[in-house]
Amino acid sequence: MDMQVAIDGPAAAGKSTVAKIIADRLQYVYIDTGAMYRALTLKAAEEGIEFDDEEKLAKLLEASTIELDQNHGQQRVYLNHQDVTEKIREPWVSENVSMVAQHAKVRQMMVEQQQMLARSQNVVMDGRDIGTSVLPNADVKIFLKASVKERAERRYKEQIAKGIPSSIETLEEEIATRDRRDTERKTSPLVKAEDAVELDTTSLSINEVVEKILSLIEGAKIR
Ligand code: DC
Repeated sequence: MDMQVAIDGPAAAGKSTVAKIIADRLQYVYIDTGAMYRALTLKAAEEGIEFDDEEKLAKLLEASTIELDQNHGQQRVYLNHQDVTEKIREPWVSENVSMVAQHAKVRQMMVEQQQMLARSQNVVMDGRDIGTSVLPNADVKIFLKASVKERAERRYKEQIAKGIPSSIETLEEEIATRDRRDTERKTSPLVKAEDAVELDTTSLSINEVVEKILSLIEGAKIR
């Protein structure tokens, strides 16, 4: 039986860090659904499409290919066969992606693509609506959260390490804005699935979170 592990939660709660480690340890495929929304945001900007134009964004997505390549022990993201892995992490994309992700037509198409990716293989998928919409029957559902302050501090350290100038106050504001947009949107807002296990990572190390999820996966295997 294929295993499906869904990891949801707000921006910068540690989802991708944890999901990557788990996928690597268990040799599951890691699927970063946020990267798909980011790639569409990038393409929309390149084409001069407004982020509130649902029809045009849906058409653009239909005409685009977004691929996640796992091959080299690392995930790379391709938009129409061009490597956009670094570009989709630029701050202007982070600031605008939640506007693109709020449209029902865009989400419907993304969810279908994500469900296809999860078919017939063991997956760890992270996002906002994985446990509620994309993989409602996932074997293990996790909802990661952490305080805004803690998340801003983590992002700050990441950015400084990458040599990107940064301010904790600005990051706190950005994270709070994204939380608001993600939780208040009409179509599949960020919400914990009823059967998800909530983990507050504010005072947990990455390793503690990973071990906890691994034990939940072990438990699900023998169920
Ligand atoms: O996880 P991330 O920061 O890369 O996600 C980017 C944005 O995409 C985030 O603002 C919310 C949105 N998103 C979503 O609505 N549904 C998902 N399954 C994944 C991401």
